[in-house]
Amino acid sequence: MTDLTIKLNNGELMPAIGLGTWRANESGLLAQTIKTAIGLGYRHIDCAKLYGNQEEIGKALKEVDVPRKDLFIVSKFEENRHRPELVAGALDEILNELQLEYLDLLLMHWPYAIKPEANAMSFASSDIENVPIMDTWRAMEDLVSTGKVRSIGVSNFNQTILEKMIPQCRIVPAVNQVEIHPYLQAKELVKFCKKSGIAVTGYCPLGGRRVNVMNDNFIKHVAEAHIGTPAQVALSWALARGIAVIPKSTNEIRLKQNLHQVTLTSDEMRMIGKIERHERKVDPASDNEELEWVFHEDKMECPVI
Ligand code: A2P
Repeated sequence: MTDLTIKLNNGELMPAIGLGTWRANESGLLAQTIKTAIGLGYRHIDCAKLYGNQEEIGKALKEVDVPRKDLFIVSKFEENRHRPELVAGALDEILNELQLEYLDLLLMHWPYAIKPEANAMSFASSDIENVPIMDTWRAMEDLVSTGKVRSIGVSNFNQTILEKMIPQCRIVPAVNQVEIHPYLQAKELVKFCKKSGIAVTGYCPLGGRRVNVMNDNFIKHVAEAHIGTPAQVALSWALARGIAVIPKSTNEIRLKQNLHQVTLTSDEMRMIGKIERHERKVDPASDNEELEWVFHEDKMECPVI
């Protein structure tokens, strides 16, 4: 089912299954992967400036035979572009790399900011700076009327930050993109986002490299019962919760497989709900504990919203 969509709070439709592109260029097959995926029916492509591969994606997009209006292209700007005066330029850089006139969805990649002159991937304390999240967000709100972006949203935002942010927003984030898989289910956050009209996209929906969801005995058992694969179970479980997913694959068979769900019973959904391990793969606090507030809001408060 490739026509499954999620309606955003501004009425735009986001295809519920997208193609993830983080680390997708390691095999040297990215351009071909994009073309194959679109040929198979993928219409949502998840990109980011930080992934360093948007030029290749842009070239591939030029070569596909699908009208731009039928694609849903997402990108995210880097942490060193949070100062409000840099946000419009950050979007222009992304559009240039992707060779596009507009994005369907622009996300603030992380809630923390890095100094403009520093590498966006730096975790050095001396490179981290306190730019109020709302200042960055207001600059994003201003981009919508330029026509260069249809929807705006956030990524890696916890509930506490969103709760403080929402009353101050002229435009409530359309999407919060966060790590979600059966070992990190984000139940409270998903509930809060839904209640607030924020769609959720789950990244690393298969657990990625370090979190071995696909080897989980229960997931494997459910897969066998449906004559499907563990990946299909993990993706179907997220989709049944109303969460968009952006699995990445460079393999045609797996790309195809990831577009087709299995129908899980309510008992299976409930049982998968119980295999939660709070196992987070992506956490900036593992590089610098000053960033603990990003995902451990009980331990440290966000310094500036
Ligand atoms: P490959 O590109 O060889 O298919 P995530 O999106 O959660 O980060 O997971 C991506 C990883 O999962 C990649 O290593 C990808 O490898 C693998 N993968 C993607 N789809 C499937 C699938 N259907 N079955 C098994 N592995 C998959």
